[in-house]
Amino acid sequence: MSISVPLEPRTRPTRDDLVRAQYADAELVADYADAYTGWGPTARYHHSRLHAVDEVLRSRAGGDLLDIGCGPGMMVRHLLDTRPGDFRITACDRSAAMIDAVVARAGRAEVTPAVGDIENMPFPAGTFDVALAMGVLEYTDVASALREIARVLRPGGLLVATMLNPQSPYRLVEWGVFWPARRALGSLERAVGVAPEHRHGARRTGIKALSARRFRHELWQAGLQPEDPLFYDVTALVPPVDRFVRRWDHSWRDHPERTVSRGVARGLGSGYLMPALRPQPHTALAGHRRATSQTLVG
Ligand SMILES: C[S@@+](CC[C@H](N)C(=O)[O-])C[C@H]1O[C@@H](n2cnc3c(N)ncnc32)[C@H](O)[C@@H]1O
Repeated sequence: MSISVPLEPRTRPTRDDLVRAQYADAELVADYADAYTGWGPTARYHHSRLHAVDEVLRSRAGGDLLDIGCGPGMMVRHLLDTRPGDFRITACDRSAAMIDAVVARAGRAEVTPAVGDIENMPFPAGTFDVALAMGVLEYTDVASALREIARVLRPGGLLVATMLNPQSPYRLVEWGVFWPARRALGSLERAVGVAPEHRHGARRTGIKALSARRFRHELWQAGLQPEDPLFYDVTALVPPVDRFVRRWDHSWRDHPERTVSRGVARGLGSGYLMPALRPQPHTALAGHRRATSQTLVG
């Protein structure tokens, strides 16, 4: 007699599974927060991006500020330290572990925490003067997320949105060569019996990055009025070269203003920041350009 055992269907994780898994628990949250420190490429990226956000936020004296997709609260802490008393801050993230980290980092008296999805936020329309969406839109359905941000902003409110730049040499090499090479090496190592903890690899991220042109189009579509993008983490070094160079090049920390550009060097920015206004009711939205490329990574 033969017995047939039903096999578990082997399903590939969805993009949503990949995104949730990366930020789900306290250990992953701590890893993310650690990436802000030190001299590595991720720290360089964050440092330059903070400089760019500070520059754009200078136009706002204060008000109700939402940090959506706030992560472990590095920006919240930074604002409390550098702009004390200016903003009433609400920090929202889909990951409860991230929100716990924000409260631990900022203190419950300093921030209003909320667990929620950027595509369906738990706030009434017209609640905020400023919305920060840093490093989160790459994980979402951008059109829905931007519509929802436009809803919670007051007329005249400002969105400060950042996005990885899929057209920069840095990202082209990282996503097109460096990560695939690490994954291929990891497969080879597995085939020859290298222990899992010693294998190379690159995590699948679910990141979907839009070119600045395409992102501008999405902002117009959501009823927001984009301003000129500011490109940051401007670097001619690509992975893995930047991993070695970091040993002697620390100039990005002393001179972050040299790591941002609206001019000729903008193409070298591994990320960009695009401010956008929610127009006053009488302001017509006009002049938006046609969409271009989009890149799905990993
Ligand atoms: C790369 S981290 C960025 C964290 C922080 N904004 C920063 O720049 O350091 C992405 C964050 O977005 C959150 N996130 C991803 N998808 C989300 C969604 N649909 N709604 C709300 N948060 C989301 C993740 O949980 C994570 O904390």
